[in-house]
Amino acid sequence: MTSAPVFQASRRADVHSTAPWSPFAYVGKKLRSVLLDLIAAGETVGGTRLLDYGCADSPYRNQLPKTMEYVGADLKGNRAADVLLDEDGSVPLPAGSFDIVLSTQVLEHVADPSAYLVECFRLLRPGGTLVLTTHGIMYLHRDPQDYWRWTCDGLARIVQRAGLDVVEMRGVLGLAAAALQLLQDGTAGHIPRWLRRPYLLVMQSLIALADRLYSERTRAENGLVLAVRAVKPAASVGARTSLNEHVE
Ligand SMILES: C[S@@+](CC[C@H](N)C(=O)[O-])C[C@H]1O[C@@H](n2cnc3c(N)ncnc32)[C@H](O)[C@@H]1O
Repeated sequence: MTSAPVFQASRRADVHSTAPWSPFAYVGKKLRSVLLDLIAAGETVGGTRLLDYGCADSPYRNQLPKTMEYVGADLKGNRAADVLLDEDGSVPLPAGSFDIVLSTQVLEHVADPSAYLVECFRLLRPGGTLVLTTHGIMYLHRDPQDYWRWTCDGLARIVQRAGLDVVEMRGVLGLAAAALQLLQDGTAGHIPRWLRRPYLLVMQSLIALADRLYSERTRAENGLVLAVRAVKPAASVGARTSLNEHVE
């Protein structure tokens, strides 16, 4: 793995605000609902241990079932994290420690996404689940860098190359809704301040309406955000420790 940067506390786009005039009101709500669905599918009878890898301020911690054991990991400098990453971006915990690895809006910020996914693989127990969301056709937002965008095919390929079996790919905002979201994001800053709240309310309603044009499958084809559920094969022997082990 390449050396990891240091955590930055500011600059985060607020997809977690539930106010109806928030610029991300609709996408934030959809993202939460998709994520909680995918996490529920990975739950283990008798208790689930979940690692939030790149947790920032742990926005999902309080939304998970109380029976789940939550561990948040992030770059050095994040005081809210339970575990700080090593210099190379790896998590200083034993292989196979988790039933679920959760990664929300992190992959696009990681300099070496393949190495990050191989680390997810290592941290999962055989049969464990990766739940990951990342950007499809979103605009640039640094945290502290913003390197990558994915198509559903590209995301499935890189996850599979890390040794995981992709079970489900979901999109958050289909193409027309994503286009309206980007139009809103590219124009809201140019609208007079007093008009901004009504403008965002109208745009968020249009986005919700446009998103009804899509089925689960077509939404994933051009998602603003993509969400994947992948499983570490139960027959995996030990931890895989380098990308080279997975390349055909
Ligand atoms: C956009 S924030 C997402 C935070 C949170 N997961 C969420 O959904 O709100 C990106 C997070 O990725 C973390 N990050 C950046 N590079 C990373 C790396 N190489 N390994 C793990 N986390 C990283 C950042 O510190 C930050 O907390």
